[in-house]
This record gives sequence, structure tokens and C-alpha cells, in this order.
Amino acid sequence: MFGLGSLRSLPALGAFAVALAGALAVSGCDEESEPGPEPYEGPPLPWAYEPFPAVVHPSDNPSSSEKVELGRLLFYDPILSRDEATACATCHSEQWGMSDGLGVSIGVDGEGPTGPGRSGPNVATRNALTLWNAALRRELFWDGRAASLEEQALQPLEQALELDLDPEEAASRIAAIPAYVELFEAAFPGEAQPVTSDNVARALSTFERSLLSNRAPYDRYVDGDEGALSDEQLEGMQLFAEAGCATCHVPPLFESNRYAARVETDDEGRMAVTAAAADRGAFRVPTLRNLRESGPYFHDGSSETLEEAVWREADVAAREGEGRALTWAEVDLVALFLKKALMDRSREPERPDEVPSGLDVPLDGLRIPR
Ligand code: HEC
Ligand code: HEC
Repeated sequence: MFGLGSLRSLPALGAFAVALAGALAVSGCDEESEPGPEPYEGPPLPWAYEPFPAVVHPSDNPSSSEKVELGRLLFYDPILSRDEATACATCHSEQWGMSDGLGVSIGVDGEGPTGPGRSGPNVATRNALTLWNAALRRELFWDGRAASLEEQALQPLEQALELDLDPEEAASRIAAIPAYVELFEAAFPGEAQPVTSDNVARALSTFERSLLSNRAPYDRYVDGDEGALSDEQLEGMQLFAEAGCATCHVPPLFESNRYAARVETDDEGRMAVTAAAADRGAFRVPTLRNLRESGPYFHDGSSETLEEAVWREADVAAREGEGRALTWAEVDLVALFLKKALMDRSREPERPDEVPSGLDVPLDGLRIPR
């Protein structure tokens, strides 16, 4: 009863939202101003349509293909770690949804390929966040403590449980490798000293800004391809709205800069940043795009499967009065919507066979047949 019937009845609501937005735009503008966005003309949606945002590169770090390529090599190169065996890609692998398949990550001195087979003494405290669409986040990390990718990029080096290497030491290692010096000169033309830790951060950030996923079936659907979502996926989308999920996991990114306490935890979460007692145990609302391979889920990796994570979230949402409760059959439909309709691996980075340091690119774990 909550299936297609109710979805098909939604255009009225969608049209109302568009009309309202139009009215507001008209009343709020004088005649000189830019015309507003085109009204949404795609198939029915259970929420007001918003276009996928454009990536903005900071003025002091414009993008170029040379910089993206340098950033990619640095991302996969264990030269940025104390043990020369761990890389960003160890915890943010394209095979694991730009995360690592672990409940909580394992840093330097670890053994085994990325994935559940990895073990080691340096166990991080939280689940590795996906880097998909990180370009569009204004507050980074589970607790929002970093304000830009550039600010974030060297922090894993400074973490003893992650890469554990002084960024200046990293820069001098890199400066001793002629192939890297050439790549830095190409990425930062005209700079007297292109190999600096700041430029390592800039190149990594520019590479990360290329990790966009906006060609999922959901995106094709809103672009007018009604057949892009199956009936079951449409039902899952409708249930996602009815259960109140979209108020926090806001389309089209299915995330937001809101913080909420959803799972029982000893981690103080957002409170570390704001010092407000109300933020104890609260975490940033993570994206639900490209989530299929990035389990376990939640900041502490406490749900192995997506179905379980959805069930827990639906349970909290119903108890908090955010939406109606879901049956297990409905949970499966929401999980199906997330797994199928929001997946897009078309711009997945290519893992280099070799990196300029000559060190081994960290092993990746099992390729899951999909
Ligand atoms: C040992 C595993 C590990 C390594 C190595 C690692 N990360 Fe992470 N990364 C994490 C974890 C865990 C988090 C979440 C930490 C938190 O929020 O407190 C994270 C978060 C991030 C975020 C924030 C994403 C968001 O949505 O807020 C970015 C960006 C990031 N890492 C980039 C990098 C880069 C670039 C490197 C290499 C220089 C790197 N990481 C190396 C585990 C790792
Ligand atoms: C009040 C805001 C809010 C609402 C409503 C909400 N969520 Fe969440 N969701 C969050 C936050 C915050 C987290 C991270 C919590 C944590 O890890 O401690 C999260 C985490 C998740 C995760 C795990 C993602 C990952 O990468 O680990 C899934 C899946 C999820 N939510 C799905 C849903 C679904 C489905 C609904 C609707 C039934 C929903 N959420 C409703 C805020 C919300």
C-alpha cells in the first residue's frame, strides 16, 4: 500500500514544492537578477528536487590533470607512511567503497591486504569514511573537525595509529626522488620549491575532488529516465522518505552537515569540537551514496550488513518520531534502493601498478564478485 500507488500520487506535492520555490524566487528578486534554476520536470520524487552540486576548487588550489595524477600516485604510495608499507589507499580503497572493509581501520605495521583479512597493532578508533563526493563536504571527519580537504590531508600522517610520519620528513623523502620532482614541477608550474608538504596536501585534495559519484541510477531517473529505477527500488525510495531518512540523509548527496547521536557509544563524537554536552555521541550524517562495499557501518563499524544498519536507523527514527516504523520486508526494500539506485563506480580511481618511490603499492583484498 505504500508502493507505487502513493509514489505516483506525489507529483502534486512535487509540483507544489516547485511552484512554492518559484513564488519565493519571484517575490525575493528584482528584475535585474539571474533567472532561477529550471523547474524540475523529471519523474515523481518523494522530496523536492535539488540538483547535484558543482565542485568548487579553492582559488589557491586550482585543478589540473597533472595535479590529479600526482595526487593519485601519492594516494597509493606508501612513501607517506613511517613503515613505507601503508598508504591512504590502505584505508580508502576503490575495492571497498573508498573505505577499507573493516569495522575500525588498521594503520602502520599492519599485515595483510586491505579488507577483513588485515590485522595489526595500530587500530584506529573509528570506521574509515568513504571519500566519494568528499569534494562537496564542508565539514570533514565524523566529528566535523576539519574544514577543508587541504586541512585534512596531512592529518593521517600525524596520527600514530594511521601513517605516523612527520609531513616534513615525507616532503624530504619525496624531494629525493627525481620522478616525483618532475611531477611536482608539472603540477605546480613556476614555483621555486614545488615539493613541499603543503603541495602534497594540495595534490591529494585535488585528486580527492575527482572522486564524484553522480551517475547512479537515481541520477538517471531524475534526469528523466523513468526506467532507471525498478519498481522495487522506487518502493524503497518511497519508504526511505516515509521513514524520515531524507531529513538527515538529504538528497541528492544523501548526507548533511547535521550531527546526531544514533548509536550507543563511548566516543564523545561532535562534543570534542563544540564542547557542548548535547553533542556527546553525535556524529556527522554520512553519505548513503556508494555504500554497498563500504561496510561495516556506523562510526564504530557496529553493523556488518547494510540491512542491519537500515533496520537500526529505522528503529531509532520511529522511536524519535522522525518517520513511521518499517517492517523487515520494507527494510530490505530501502537497503535495495541504497545498494542499487545510489551506486555509481564509473569514476573509480585506477590503482597504479607502480609508484615513483618504487615501493610496493599496498595489497588490496579480495575482489568481491558483483
Ligand atoms: C589507517 C587508516 C587510514 C589511513 C592510512 C588514512 N585514512 Fe583517511 N580516514 C580514516 C578514518 C578512520 C577516518 C575517519 C576518522 C574520523 O572521522 O575521526 C578517515 C577520514 C578521512 C577523510 C574525511 C572524509 C569525510 O567524509 O569527512 C578524508 C578526506 C581522508 N580520510 C583522507 C585520507 C588521505 C588523503 C589519506 C592519506 C594521506 C588517508 N585518509 C589515510 C582512516 C585512514
Ligand atoms: C536525525 C538524523 C538521521 C536520520 C533521521 C537518519 N539518519 Fe542515518 N545516520 C545519521 C547519523 C548521524 C549517522 C552516523 C551515526 C554513527 O555512526 O554514530 C547515520 C548513519 C547511517 C547509516 C550508516 C552509514 C555508514 O556509512 O556507516 C545508514 C545506512 C543510515 N544512517 C541509514 C538511514 C536510514 C535508512 C534512515 C531512515 C530510516 C536514517 N538513516 C535516518 C543520521 C540520521
